[in-house]
Amino acid sequence: MSTADNNRVRIFDTTLRDGEQSPGATMTSAEKLEVARGLARMGVDIIEAGFPAASPDDLEAVRKIADEVGNSADGSTPPVICGLARCSKNDIDKAWEAVKSAARPRIHTFLATSDIHMEYKLKMTREQVVEKVRDMVSYAHSLCDDVEFSPEDAGRSDPQFLYKVLGVAIQSGATTLNIPDTVGYTMPAEFGALISGIIQNTPGVEKAVISVHCHNDLGLATANTIAGLQAGARQAEVTINGIGERAGNTALEEVVMVLQTREPIFKLTTGIDTTQIVKMSKLISNYTGITVQPNKAIVGANAFAHEAGIHQDGMLKNQQTYEIMRPESVGASLSKLVLGKHSGKHALKTRLESLGYELGDDELVKMFERFKMLADKKKMITDADLEALVSDELYQP
Ligand code: KIV
Ligand code: ZN
Repeated sequence: MSTADNNRVRIFDTTLRDGEQSPGATMTSAEKLEVARGLARMGVDIIEAGFPAASPDDLEAVRKIADEVGNSADGSTPPVICGLARCSKNDIDKAWEAVKSAARPRIHTFLATSDIHMEYKLKMTREQVVEKVRDMVSYAHSLCDDVEFSPEDAGRSDPQFLYKVLGVAIQSGATTLNIPDTVGYTMPAEFGALISGIIQNTPGVEKAVISVHCHNDLGLATANTIAGLQAGARQAEVTINGIGERAGNTALEEVVMVLQTREPIFKLTTGIDTTQIVKMSKLISNYTGITVQPNKAIVGANAFAHEAGIHQDGMLKNQQTYEIMRPESVGASLSKLVLGKHSGKHALKTRLESLGYELGDDELVKMFERFKMLADKKKMITDADLEALVSDELYQP
């Protein structure tokens, strides 16, 4: 791998699989196809299109995505299309059936490795888990060159056992090893150390790409993903708006914008066209019915809105005083200076000028008093409110 490749993080989007597992987030096949087209346009490297063994509908949706989005009409490289499978022949066969028409198909198979999952859920011993991984990864590899393996609940697994299972997965043909923090339990330093440990101790690891897949139960999914990338992982598994099981998955927009905004620190790049981010966020929100909280990083309605007078004054002098990225860079409309009770005279004057009113100093002082009185009664002052205030002010007998 060249140095340039070494700094390139592959973005693996699982909105259509882990994201769709959010309560109530079910999408129709037509919607899934539209999402996959958008992800491809955005430059996502790998699209996990679904879990084909889950239902005939899921299999059909993945197949359609593989047929269309997984092949390019214009000679450009299409994204890898991936289907999830438990470590069972039936699941792997279904995943293969669904993805095989893509130019670059991938089978992603997983088996839990934490003691709690092995004892209570799988009712399997460590030895049985190792043998199952050997058999099923080999089977997946007999069908498809590109195989990803995930030790589910890796964040709570014994690292020594993980090294062994991952070594067997590589020996059996896995080319990507995905490390899930399935229940969002780890802390960033811990997760980073887990990835370093895997890179240092897993036999044959240099043949595989290490991937990270974090859940947000403690609000640490993005921090953990970034810690994993800093430790040497080169694939990040993410969803648009961070949708996913329980508190969700790592948000695509957050990881991509962290890497872009702090590029001098991380020196890592992605192939994402960031100007598509807000559009994709809205598409997912419309299709799933899951609204985005207004203060959500990058894509929330308030991510580029400023109300405090001091902030608005700073923004009017130089946008970099209170913005670390430009709204256009993620496809958002221009920064908003929201007029409310915290706003100052500078912001009021600027908004009035944009509405065509040039007030003299005395008029502005009076106008500002009336504005503050109204702002105490209303959450936000709209342009219509300003028009009404101006006509009262200027045309009062
Ligand atoms: O969170 C998880 O462990 C998963 C695996 C299937 C990768 O989603
Ligand atoms: Zn997951």
